[in-house]
Amino acid sequence: RAQVIAVDGPSGVGKGMVVRGLASRLGWHRLDSGALYRILALAAQAASIDLADTDRVAALAAKLDIRFDGDTEEDERILVNGTDVVKEVRSETTGGLASQIATAPAVRAALLQRQRDFRVAPGLIADGRDMGTVVFPDAGLKIFLTASAEERAKRRANQLSARGQVVRLADLSAEIRARDERDRTRAVAPLVPAPDAVEIDTSLLNPAQVFERIDELLKT
Ligand code: CDP
Repeated sequence: RAQVIAVDGPSGVGKGMVVRGLASRLGWHRLDSGALYRILALAAQAASIDLADTDRVAALAAKLDIRFDGDTEEDERILVNGTDVVKEVRSETTGGLASQIATAPAVRAALLQRQRDFRVAPGLIADGRDMGTVVFPDAGLKIFLTASAEERAKRRANQLSARGQVVRLADLSAEIRARDERDRTRAVAPLVPAPDAVEIDTSLLNPAQVFERIDELLKT
């Protein structure tokens, strides 16, 4: 079986940066599992499905043709049934909707095999909330990233403004906290480190320092 590196952690902690960096250095594939939840929430809304009707939301998952394109955040494209929806996918509003549907066991089950299908040679770097605990429990390396809530809100604000989205730091900070709380306390696949995950607190680390830490882990 192809190898897997699992990268989990809360919102705005830098999972995307780590996963892109590792995938390009190792030449491995990448899975942004959060994007699947975001896309499904958007598609359900577009189909006028009540997000609380989780069986219908889950059933919709099988009907979506999803293609990820582009190696950097700047040239990223996400094609859903042929239409590029990257802008909507990356908004903080969509992040909130994703975390709502993500509490439903039916929705998580509907996306499970789809995530595992990304496991293709030579290897996969997968990021999300439950990569190391549920989706790839046999991953060869599991990393759990953390950072203070203030730092994460700042990073996400910078990222969104680079995408041309205007956000107030105070609002964003409140939204991120609410989403983290929902992700940590839900009954299925809550956001917790796998027992064998290595935790890295990135609050005071720059990207180069984060990669240094991970390079040490890859050597061992
Ligand atoms: O980019 P950010 O970390 O803020 O969010 P994301 O990874 O795109 O995930 C959006 C939401 O989807 C999260 O708040 C989770 O509720 C949910 N999610 C999940 O439940 N399981 C995953 N493996 C990935 C995301």
